[in-house]
Amino acid sequence: MHLLKPGPQVDDQALEELYAYPSALTAPFVQVNFVASADGAATVSGRSRGLSSPADKKVFALGRDLADVVLVGAGTALAEQYQGVKHTELRAARRERLGLSEIPPIAVVTGRGSVPPSSPLITATSVPPIVITSDSSPVAWRKEVADAGADVVVAGDERVDTGLALSALADRGLLRVCCEGGPTLFADLIADGLVDQLCLTVAPLLAGAGAVRIADGLPSAAPVGLSLASVLADEGFLMLRYRRAAESR
Ligand SMILES: NC(=O)c1ccc[n+]([C@@H]2O[C@H](COP(=O)([O-])OP(=O)(O)OC[C@H]3O[C@@H](n4cnc5c(N)ncnc54)[C@H](OP(=O)(O)O)[C@@H]3O)[C@@H](O)[C@H]2O)c1
Repeated sequence: MHLLKPGPQVDDQALEELYAYPSALTAPFVQVNFVASADGAATVSGRSRGLSSPADKKVFALGRDLADVVLVGAGTALAEQYQGVKHTELRAARRERLGLSEIPPIAVVTGRGSVPPSSPLITATSVPPIVITSDSSPVAWRKEVADAGADVVVAGDERVDTGLALSALADRGLLRVCCEGGPTLFADLIADGLVDQLCLTVAPLLAGAGAVRIADGLPSAAPVGLSLASVLADEGFLMLRYRRAAESR
């Protein structure tokens, strides 16, 4: 057992190297980002904002900077009022240096088709969003969101099959996947054995009862083992990075 001692400041370059996706990917690599309170809550008053910190925001933004695509469930996209990923000088420079597209698209998962064509996810974006849905969503809605500019993917019958969803992203050359939740989508990815890395910020806060935890919904057949890849600490917040353990692959 080791006691974590205060260490040197980690600059932007070191952070980028720490959180880099594996090189020469030939299959999707799924990183999932979450923030939770010390007592396990994923929300305060229905949002994740009350749990975050400047350091957590930095790691969250880095997740977007290094990814080919940002994957998110409709519940989160609607609750957190998602728009397309924004252009920033740092993001553009970093992505150009890493040989990535200027802005990663957002891929939103909605089995029922609950994202309206007027959503800022579809209208307030500089790159076309990807809408991943199931065969059970209304055909007319699919046409409306496609007409509004979305790339619509049907991946599954009743629900979205997360494996098929990742294959559709891979077909578009999008292998570095940064999933920003939420809990329902995360539970499905865990159950399907598709989570490669979890970036979890633990906030120094007791949120109390009533909030959802970071995985919610479909139970998994068996727990997935993780190994701790890095720990950063800032102002009482812990930024943990876990990799799927070799024996769980
Ligand atoms: N603490 C954090 O870091 C964090 C991160 C993200 C979200 N959150 C919070 O979590 C809450 C949202 O939770 P949530 O569980 O609703 O989030 P979610 O997983 O983003 O959204 C759930 C919805 O996404 C769609 N979905 C996800 N997986 C699907 C699948 N396999 N097949 C078909 N549809 C699928 C469904 O949409 P349809 O109903 O349209 O079919 C489902 O109702 C918000 O309060 C948000 O603030 C917290």
